[in-house]
Amino acid sequence: MIIIKSPREIELIKKAGEVVSDVFKQLEPLCIPGVSTLALANKADQVIRSHGAIPTFLNYEGYPGVICISVNDTVVHGIPSKHTILRDGDVVSLDVGATLNGYVADACRTYVVGRAKESTKKLVRVTEESFYEGVKLIKEGVHLGDVSHAIQTHVEKNGFSVIRDYTGHGVGRHLHEDPSIPNYGEAGTGVILKAGMCLAIEPMVAEGDYRVKILSDGWTAKMKDGKLSSHYENTLVVTKDGYEILTQDKEIK
Ligand code: MF3
Ligand code: CO
Repeated sequence: MIIIKSPREIELIKKAGEVVSDVFKQLEPLCIPGVSTLALANKADQVIRSHGAIPTFLNYEGYPGVICISVNDTVVHGIPSKHTILRDGDVVSLDVGATLNGYVADACRTYVVGRAKESTKKLVRVTEESFYEGVKLIKEGVHLGDVSHAIQTHVEKNGFSVIRDYTGHGVGRHLHEDPSIPNYGEAGTGVILKAGMCLAIEPMVAEGDYRVKILSDGWTAKMKDGKLSSHYENTLVVTKDGYEILTQDKEIK
């Protein structure tokens, strides 16, 4: 069942979204060679709690981290560790959830560390672009499949592939609500969007093949072929004639 949020609920999700945005603002400059992913997560914990919010992911279905930090061929759900140290040329994604006054916002950014190859920068750029290619279609009455299809088209046109095993989702009262939002699919299919739906749209993109494997920790999802991956996500609300991003950390492009 897809929950339509009231204006009051949307405001609350937006407040949670401001916390998530502040985490990106404070952590992006710290993504430099030599820093451990645990140090980054500890900083995220501090920022989230300084707003009176709670890190949504901690203990979610047993997840042991404050946020997810996924480096290089880890696509999602990387567990922060003092043994995982960022190196020059890495790609690192920070996936952040904050719960404030009972409402959840969820977003992810991928950054390049130090000097990265052009192909690495392209992967990160195309992932972000694919998010906007999808969401620019959003307004009341549009099929969700149109959004999924546009994301997939942009990714594949650039020679990359879309991860199949993870999807975006409804968000707000809980981290994961209906609908599930694949980053691939057919235009003209799927649920029809309505104003007040709050969605976390999150393209996960692979440099090579899209197949993933889960490590023995039960969480860390890595690319089977060991190639790079990238992830970009925002929480947004569907409106009558468009959408509004609720986890914006930069000026809208
Ligand atoms: N952004 C991810 C998602 O929406 C993060 C979830 S991590 C978990 O699925 F640990 F909370 F599961
Ligand atoms: Co999400």
